[in-house]
Amino acid sequence: MFDLTPYNTFGLHVHSKNGIIINTENDLKTVHEDEIIILGHGSDVLFTDDYDGTVLINKIKSLNITQEGDFFKVKVGSGVILDDLIESLLENKIYGLENLSAIPGTVGAAPIQNVGAYGVEIGDLITEIEAYDLQRHFRETFSHERCEFAYRSSYFKHHCERKLFITSVTFRLFSRFIPKLTYQGLKNLHFKDGAALRARIEKMRSAKLPDPKLIGNAGSFFKNPEIEKEVANKLKEQYPDMPVYPTNEAHLCKLAAGWLIEKAGCRGITHGNVGTWEEQALVIVNRGDAKPNEVVALAQYIIAEVYAKFGILLVPEVRTYGPKGELSWKRM
Ligand code: EPU
Repeated sequence: MFDLTPYNTFGLHVHSKNGIIINTENDLKTVHEDEIIILGHGSDVLFTDDYDGTVLINKIKSLNITQEGDFFKVKVGSGVILDDLIESLLENKIYGLENLSAIPGTVGAAPIQNVGAYGVEIGDLITEIEAYDLQRHFRETFSHERCEFAYRSSYFKHHCERKLFITSVTFRLFSRFIPKLTYQGLKNLHFKDGAALRARIEKMRSAKLPDPKLIGNAGSFFKNPEIEKEVANKLKEQYPDMPVYPTNEAHLCKLAAGWLIEKAGCRGITHGNVGTWEEQALVIVNRGDAKPNEVVALAQYIIAEVYAKFGILLVPEVRTYGPKGELSWKRM
């Protein structure tokens, strides 16, 4: 049995049948197991039980930087911790990723969910991804277009059946500091350099979100729901202070799941060893020695409460695994 406690930031005591540490792409050539889960830092996963297969732990670390005029091509091994990368890029005066500071997780995991925070989505800065196909044993290169980045989603998220192990991510970043300040809390602020913006982001993040090193959690547990504008307009008549955000599609808009959960009376609640974070209702936390089924039960309770109050179905953002592999919440 392989202990997964250090490999899920929820800090749940779960195991897999086997675990293999992957240090280079070559290590993948010897992997022939059928039942496989790939983990980076485990910061966006929930195990509902022990996993009856092999977990591959990504430790591929490399960094290759080439300057191309005003830009830098930065090719990064997928096992590098995203926040460590951002810190070292800023030391080298390479800009673009600072809004994603302090997000837990590896560089290889970030594009799968197309992580985003404070006005920046990682996919916007990615030009290419290399992935190793664990079924057919060859390396495939994905252009930006082929990655199909969308809100908390990508090609890789929707084609898990292909068993693709992302080995490297290539970014196109800037030699000049051009701050991205579209997020409400950053508008009209001035930053003298990338490090100052990074410091501000770190402060904003730690004020609202629990540090997984201290309190087990997997960041935002639910996605912000995308709904028809018509439905949002009706709700807005009833709840004038409800936040509504635009999306890329004219007929859709996005609501703040944290706001919906709070208004449904579920902010800062505690059920047994689990609860929702006092400062940000979107985060489910491990308040002690939580069991996987307690997390699932609380998530289902929140989904039911929000549905009862607003008629909106929340969908978890965390990837959820059971004994036989990835689970769909619709069937839980
Ligand atoms: N709100 C509440 N109550 C709450 C939480 C939020 O009323 O308990 C309200 C806020 O006041 C605000 C709105 O809801 O008006 C949105 O909240 P916030 O700006 O904190 O952002 P979010 O939509 O809750 C998203 C990402 C976060 C990311 C932040 C900042 C999703 C699901 N989450 O949160 O990403 O850090 O924006 O950009 O898109 C993550 O994915 O793990 C994550 C932390």
